Parts: sequence; structure tokens; C-alpha cells
Amino acid sequence: MKAIVYTKYGSPDVLQLKEVAKPAPKDNEVLVKIHAATVTVGDSIVVRGMPFPVRFWSGLLEPKHQIPGKEMAGRVEAVGSNVTQFQPGDEVFGDLSVCGLGAFAEYVSVPENAIALKPANLTFEQAAAVPESSVVALQGLRDKGKIQPGQKVLINGASGGVGTYAVQIAKSFGAEVTAVCSTRNLELARSLGADRVIDYTQEDFTQNGHRYDLILAVNGDHPLSDYRRVLCPEGIYVGSGGSMAQTFQGMFLGPWMSMTGSQKMGNMLVKPNQNDLVFMKELVEAGKVKPVIDRRYPLAEVPEALRYIEEGHAQGKVVITIGTLPQNLTSSGE
Ligand SMILES: NC(=O)c1ccc[n+]([C@@H]2O[C@H](COP(=O)([O-])OP(=O)(O)OC[C@H]3O[C@@H](n4cnc5c(N)ncnc54)[C@H](OP(=O)(O)O)[C@@H]3O)[C@@H](O)[C@H]2O)c1
Repeated sequence: MKAIVYTKYGSPDVLQLKEVAKPAPKDNEVLVKIHAATVTVGDSIVVRGMPFPVRFWSGLLEPKHQIPGKEMAGRVEAVGSNVTQFQPGDEVFGDLSVCGLGAFAEYVSVPENAIALKPANLTFEQAAAVPESSVVALQGLRDKGKIQPGQKVLINGASGGVGTYAVQIAKSFGAEVTAVCSTRNLELARSLGADRVIDYTQEDFTQNGHRYDLILAVNGDHPLSDYRRVLCPEGIYVGSGGSMAQTFQGMFLGPWMSMTGSQKMGNMLVKPNQNDLVFMKELVEAGKVKPVIDRRYPLAEVPEALRYIEEGHAQGKVVITIGTLPQNLTSSGE
């Protein structure tokens, strides 16, 4: 099968399209013919092996998993003897960061708990855009942020892979959502349901006097003390990404600020799991959330797609199409 392979950390140039052995499913595994994947900031981190701590997971000196790629959607081709949830022909999606990556390939063999049936109303390309980014937003808002109906929620970085889901998921929980993005993305944020939009090139949301019950910091760069100033007295700040400074402050200052005040501040790390994949499938099928796709690239152009993601200005998700998509299952409506 064709796959994007790397044997040493580095820029996207280290990635090569190669012919490799097609995997065979073990007893508890499902063999999936992948139709679409995505490229994310996380893929860039894994390919570069930077920031360095990622290597404690991905391999200290060289990559442990030579085929990168996390988010994917495809069709089950075969199942191991102990698999109970899936059968050949099922259309599935999943986040492979729980099971050794490998989405940039024509096939992957994965434990059945790493995947779920794909939302019936999405194409493979759209479904591949869901598994990680939406679950980051979901866990940030619901689990760490304890989101409640009627709360004032601010999403900083509302126009990228995670932010476009965060706006929609917060709305689905009944929150009043303020989306922070740049001028060219204001309409996108409104179309996803944001009640208010703030153009970060024109206005600093930490200086305008508004306060929020919950802030999800997906992107951007503000000192934690600025975020604290615009949190309600019992408010919660959840850092999921953004600049290094923002991330380190969330990691080290957040717990201290939480101990010394009534507000809760800290970072989150996504925990991929099948229940949340199913939760997202149901939200998508209920029409409450839809993926936003910026661009598509063929498998051979994963390096190009990664360079685009590294520029930091994707509008929604960047999709990789793999093989020939079944007719009528290419993209539509996003
Ligand atoms: N915690 C976790 O477990 C976890 C998991 C996955 C990802 N992440 C992190 O989450 C972050 C976001 O991921 P993503 O997939 O959404 O990234 P992304 O798709 O690359 O984000 C790009 C978007 O961010 C916007 N943006 C750039 N600078 C901004 C700023 N200063 N203020 C507001 N928006 C800004 C861009 O809009 P403009 O072009 O208009 O500027 C663009 O639409 C990353 O840092 C990633 O590492 C964390």
C-alpha cells in the first residue's frame, strides 16, 4: 500500500511517499481502508519531534511510529476474530493517536475501541475532519470547563481546526458565545452560531470590560493575568493551545492562580476515547455541529499540507484525500 513515511525528525521534507506492506488485523483489530485523513498542528509536532517533550511519547531519538497521521475516516475491510463492534463494509472514523498513528496511508489496522461508526450524514472527507479537533473542543468545554446553558463563553482562536468546533459545541450546550478571530473570519464565526465576534486585529478582548464564565483559549497569545481579569469571579479558564508562553503559563501559573483565588485556570490535554467519538457523531447527525473544511490535498502532498498548517492560518480543517473516493462520497456542503 502507499503511505507517507518518515524515519527521522525534521521539517515536512523528511516525509516520503513509499510502498509499504499492507497491515493485517490482529484478533482485536479492525483493518480500515482509509479514504480521508487530516493534517493538524499535532502532526507537525510529531513530525518535527518538537517541542522536545513530545519525544517521550513519539520516540526519543527517532520516530517510533513511522507512518504519521491521526484523524481518519474509511471503510472496514476485515476484522479480527475477537472484534464484536464492526463488520466489513462499515464506515468508520477515529483518532489514531491512541494506537500508534498511521492515518497517512491507504490502510491501517486499529483496535476496535479507537474508532466509531462515522456520522451517516458526512462524507469521508468531512468525517475525517471530526475525531480529534472536535473532541479537544468538547473536553475543553464540557469536562474541564463545566459549561452550562446560558453561560457567557469566549473562544479565543475561533476560526481554526479546534475553534470552529468549539463555537458550535458551546452553542449546542446553550451558551452565549463570543468568538475571537481576525477580520477575514468574522463571517465564518457568525455562520457557526457565534452571538458576538471580536476582531483581534482591531480590539483586545482583555481590555473591553466584558467578563466571561468560561474561556477556551485555543489560539492566540495573552498573559494568564489578562485572561483572569476578564473571567467572572467563579469563572473557568481552559488553555488548549496557542503560543508557547500562553501554554507554559497555563501549565505552571494556572494551578497556583486556581489555589489563590475563586477562579479555576489551567490547561487541558485531549484524551481520545470512543464514547466522545460517539457523542460527536450524534451531535453531527443532529445537525448541531458541522465540520468546516479549508483545503484538500492528495496523499502525496501531505508535506505541502503540513507546511500550510504550520503557517497558522487555516480556516477550519485541512483534509487529505486518499485513494479514489467512492462516487457521491466526495465533499459537499461544507
Ligand atoms: N490540548 C490539546 O490536547 C490539544 C489537542 C490538539 C490541538 N491542540 C492545540 O490547539 C491549538 C489550535 O489547534 P487548531 O487545530 O485549531 O489550529 P489551527 O487550525 O492551525 O489554527 C489556525 C487558526 O488560528 C487562528 N489564529 C492565529 N493566530 C491567532 C490569534 N492571535 N488569535 C486568535 N486566533 C488566531 C487563525 O486565524 P487567522 O488566520 O485569522 O489569524 C486560524 O484560523 C494548537 O496550538 C494545537 O497545538 C491542543
